[in-house]
Amino acid sequence: MDFLDKLVLPQSAEHIELLHYMLILILALFVPFISIIFGGTFASIHYGKKFRKTKTLYYKKFSKDIIEYVTVNNGVGVILGLVPLLAAILIFAQLLHTAQIQTVSFLALSFAFLLVGLFMIYTYRYSMVLSNVFESVNLNTNIDKDSEEDYRKIKAKSSYLSLNYGKSGLVILFVGIWFYVAAITSATSFTSWNFPGFITSLAAPKVLLNLLIFIAFAFTLTNAAILFIHLYWKDSKKDEDVSYTKFVKDIASKAGLKASIILPILIAINLFSFPETNLSGSIFVYAIASILLIFLAYHFFYMIQIKNDYRFGSLIFFVLILASIAFIIKDQKAMTNATKSHSLVLSTEYDKILAELKGEGTVVAFSGKELYDVRCASCHKFDQKLVGPAHFDVLPKYVGKEAKLVAFIRNPVKVDPAFPPMPNPGLKPQEADAVAKYLLEEFAKKK
Ligand code: HEC
Repeated sequence: MDFLDKLVLPQSAEHIELLHYMLILILALFVPFISIIFGGTFASIHYGKKFRKTKTLYYKKFSKDIIEYVTVNNGVGVILGLVPLLAAILIFAQLLHTAQIQTVSFLALSFAFLLVGLFMIYTYRYSMVLSNVFESVNLNTNIDKDSEEDYRKIKAKSSYLSLNYGKSGLVILFVGIWFYVAAITSATSFTSWNFPGFITSLAAPKVLLNLLIFIAFAFTLTNAAILFIHLYWKDSKKDEDVSYTKFVKDIASKAGLKASIILPILIAINLFSFPETNLSGSIFVYAIASILLIFLAYHFFYMIQIKNDYRFGSLIFFVLILASIAFIIKDQKAMTNATKSHSLVLSTEYDKILAELKGEGTVVAFSGKELYDVRCASCHKFDQKLVGPAHFDVLPKYVGKEAKLVAFIRNPVKVDPAFPPMPNPGLKPQEADAVAKYLLEEFAKKK
């Protein structure tokens, strides 16, 4: 993704914060939509199979209804599935500019798979409708031989398409989701992500756990969406067939409950998989909010299933959408924490460029050594620890990474628990630059 990296300009700290908020909005559209498409396609294929086994007509109707509900129409697929992901790729490219982490590559792959997967799933939907039409047409006995042949061919083709495109589309979508989850996981554990190879990244326990959460959530949300659309939106009174409504209600509320049952535990495990340094109060708050909302959804599923109270059809859907948004915010907070020092590197670069534009660039009143003696030497020595650690002990990790050292000096973060936090020395960008250079030069001399 080098070409994207070149497009990106350094960002101010405020802009970086704004990007994080935009990401939350965009993912709040993308994640629920893709979840429902995935869960819905799976359910549609599953109940189609059940129909072929049991010959119960309701299964067939259900299979077709589900895919029609969840795909809405082509435009929705593009607007909610593909455009947000594209926007997310651009934002991640800015936030992780020069970070050399695979996140953006994973997202690009995810986009490619989703594009193909969605295309196939929409084909599945239309060919399913088509083959139903064919089946309900009775051949006119006066029809000529040629037309009859054509008719059979198209009929066979559409049922072939609906069977195969559905399944392949589902598998491809799954791979796309897997890449997406790997991207988010790598970004949220930025500091502890040790750049494993491609396959090892995909199979990393953290990624698999998040994938499991995504899939379980997708099934839960899909069933809630089915209940919402069937019981509430479509206005079940218009649907003459009361026993079909009961059939849908029974299946969806049971399946929804089953899929959601492990979610709270999985989310809790996910929470404890974050490195301690990245945890913050707000991450806990959002994780707990999403768990509580899922508990509320249990209750609604139960009310629909046992008490036949269909009013909960709409509530349950919105409660679960909120749960997914809470989960997304939690991930974004984790990413913000994990990339804190990287964001500083980026905004420091921005400050430097801004200072140069204002003409403050070249004038550094004091040399690096002079600045150091006045501003740092009270707490630091090169070869001995004082208030802070000996420079020679900590500098090795900054060799070749001057920008990171400048970022630390301009805005120190907590590093070593054996020391108190370093107060912000309040240097200007150019001053920090000069001091960092001086430190690294001294370190190089020592070797
Ligand atoms: C008031 C005391 C104090 C002053 C002044 C001070 N530091 Fe520090 N410095 C500390 C302490 C304490 C730590 C350890 C912080 C930690 O590990 O969380 C530290 C850590 C560091 C580190 C190690 C960072 C790491 O990643 O482990 C560097 C580099 C550093 N200081 C450079 C400087 C420079 C350059 C200046 C002058 C511009 C400076 N310090 C001024 C107290 C100070």
